Amino acid sequence: MKVTVVGAGLVGATCAEAIAHKDIVNEVVLLDVKENLAEGKALDMWQMSNIKLFDTRITGSTNDYSKTANSDIVVLTAGIPRKPGMSRDDLISINADIVKTSTENIIKYSPNAIIIVVSNPLDVMTYCAYLTAKMDSSKVFGMAGILDTARYSAFLAEALNCSPKDIKAILMGGHGDTMVPLPRYTTVSGIPVTELIEKDKLEAIVDRTKKGGTEIVNLLGTSAWYAPGVAAAQMVEAIIRDQKRIFPCCVWLQGEYGLKDIYLGAPVKLGKKGVEEIIELKLNKEEMELVNASATAVREVMDVLDKMNAAK
Ligand code: LAC
Repeated sequence: MKVTVVGAGLVGATCAEAIAHKDIVNEVVLLDVKENLAEGKALDMWQMSNIKLFDTRITGSTNDYSKTANSDIVVLTAGIPRKPGMSRDDLISINADIVKTSTENIIKYSPNAIIIVVSNPLDVMTYCAYLTAKMDSSKVFGMAGILDTARYSAFLAEALNCSPKDIKAILMGGHGDTMVPLPRYTTVSGIPVTELIEKDKLEAIVDRTKKGGTEIVNLLGTSAWYAPGVAAAQMVEAIIRDQKRIFPCCVWLQGEYGLKDIYLGAPVKLGKKGVEEIIELKLNKEEMELVNASATAVREVMDVLDKMNAAK
């Protein structure tokens, strides 16, 4: 099995490292446009193999996509990260070009690869990759929900003074301030979270989750990488090992949740074929309204991309 990670920046490198540590694939190729960046990071990672005890061969490439040929999965992290004061949507014009070019190069050498998009603005960059790849949508999807759910779970574990391992949660919607954490689908070892925490505290955590990415941008001056990198690696593992795990991912909705022709976060089953099933939760009216509001926000940015493409 072979995985390519496009973009050897902080997210891409963290993802490649996490995949290697799992020791589930023969080969990871890290690729970047910046001369020698991927080669250097890949070499450093490969030199961990004797200490961390993995076999995965990690190599780097400066923009030579022939090295990525016959990848089973490609994780697309290329693009510029946001700076304080920027929303993810502010990145659209620069990152759309990067995602389009990368996707064209990926499918040229790996026409059967599953593509996991991580670049921002996430939902619309996933749409951009889908339009470019012209592949079945079960093989082009985005990573955001696992990251956002992990943030939500971390905040809950802190507030409840419990192990984050025991928190099971689901979250829907776009990867932005309109995302929809779902307390009704959140448990701590099977106990509904609403039985364990006061309503106002839970609301504050939901709110903090929605702004979780911005909180880190404000602290660091650039966006997060540890949690985003391992979140993408978890999706890779679910696919490689055909685990049929249920995760929120950014997927092409075709009537599910009453939404059509939109990339949006929803729970899916991930296995060797990619998105093997989109799971429809029985959302109540209030939850559905929040999901619809998030869909509207994502659609606005999708329209910007469509107009940019039409003008070309
Ligand atoms: C975040 C960026 C990676 O949420 O979108 O941290």
